[in-house]
Amino acid sequence: MPKVTIKTDDLTIEVKDDYPLIDMCEDHDTSILFGCRDGACGACMVKVIEGDEHLSPMGEDEKDFLETMGAEPDERLACQCKVSGGNVKIDVSE
Ligand code: FES
Repeated sequence: MPKVTIKTDDLTIEVKDDYPLIDMCEDHDTSILFGCRDGACGACMVKVIEGDEHLSPMGEDEKDFLETMGAEPDERLACQCKVSGGNVKIDVSE
């Protein structure tokens, strides 16, 4: 099973394949905050340190939103990501 590490929280959690990152964060009371839960507010932006290839591909809406926000190429919206196939390391975006 894939493992998700959140650097700020010094926390590593094993998750089922295809598991939504938002569910993992909320199950474990992490530092990643959520607002709209729909890819529209940016509250859940995270920096992907390792394992980008193990996150679900970015949809057009997420891509457009991140571009509008001026996000870095390694940033994603946690509410839009599922984890599968391998480990992922993320951190809260500054
Ligand atoms: S919670 Fe609003 S964009 Fe993810």
